[in-house]
Amino acid sequence: MSRILVTGGTGYIGSHTTVELMQQGYDVTIVDNLSNSSIDVLDGIAAIVGKKPEFANIDCGNFVDLDSVFTTYPDIVGVIHFAASKAVGESVEKPLLYYRNNLGSLVTLLEVMQQHHVQNIVFSSSCTVYGQPDKEHLPVDETAPIQQALSPYGNTKQINEEIIRDAAHADKSLHATILRYFNPIGAHPSALIGELPNGVPQNLLPFITQTAAGLRPELKVFGDDYNTPDGSCIRDYIYVVDLAKAHVKAVARMLESKDREQVEVFNLGTGRGLSVLELIRDFEKATGVKIPYTIVGRREGDIEQVWAAPKKANEILGWSADTPITEVLASAWKWEKHIRNIK
Ligand code: UD1
Repeated sequence: MSRILVTGGTGYIGSHTTVELMQQGYDVTIVDNLSNSSIDVLDGIAAIVGKKPEFANIDCGNFVDLDSVFTTYPDIVGVIHFAASKAVGESVEKPLLYYRNNLGSLVTLLEVMQQHHVQNIVFSSSCTVYGQPDKEHLPVDETAPIQQALSPYGNTKQINEEIIRDAAHADKSLHATILRYFNPIGAHPSALIGELPNGVPQNLLPFITQTAAGLRPELKVFGDDYNTPDGSCIRDYIYVVDLAKAHVKAVARMLESKDREQVEVFNLGTGRGLSVLELIRDFEKATGVKIPYTIVGRREGDIEQVWAAPKKANEILGWSADTPITEVLASAWKWEKHIRNIK
């Protein structure tokens, strides 16, 4: 069977994708420097699939180390590149760190792939590249214009997409799939892997589950004066397991399909927008736990509303994100209870 190299494979989306790949019969080698994840994630993956993935504790920006991984595993046929720094606020404070990590690792990876004649890459991008789309581009499809990034983090996603296009233009044997994620949430139904935020969570759902667990006194809702039906921001929350499955489809298409474009882009979302207040209500409904919250001012840099038109991924990848939101929210709560030892 074919081997896939998963960079950032002990991270949130990487670990869920590794599970789905292994369950579909792929061999997986993870490379991760554990800068924002734990080695214990490998045990969680093994407990779900019955086998540990291969693992190398290296930094993707290190050519020599990465080169040795490709030498050790000559059966690598494709790469999924998750490894990146992803905190928007931190990227504003430490832009050079973000440019070094996120640009350096992709450039190094593409060089090493070329050296070893590995010609398939799936890249983790983000709906952040669309900024706030105009009304006529909502829901957002892949043809919506890319807008000036609001943070160095967002800029690294845009530049990385350009790096991939330029590399593919120069090397016609390179195939790339760019996946633009909307807002991934939830955890594996087994509660053996999930999201492990460092410190105070910046993202909404981990903040909600930590509030439910009593670690935070209340949730702050950033703004209720937006031009949306209930005044709070709207996002497209996608179940991380559905998202992981899209990667398996993307890999299979890259390895099998003859009539594909050299660089393909897919939006990965549900096609449904939910407001912050709706998500809180759905969480309470799914879990029976009340979430204390107060409305505070807007968070700088927040987009008012964005959700996906996932038609292209539905049709071409034969994939859709259809896990009901209550099930998704219950999975996040089950995971939070598991890591906090709550019955
Ligand atoms: C952000 C980034 C996105 C990145 C993602 C994952 C932008 C525009 N988006 O998404 O690129 O991929 O994080 O790291 O930079 N909220 C609250 N209270 C909270 C936390 C969040 O009300 O305590 C609200 C936010 O205002 C927003 C929604 O919840 O409306 C979702 O926020 P969040 O989970 O941080 O994701 P994004 O900002 O959409």
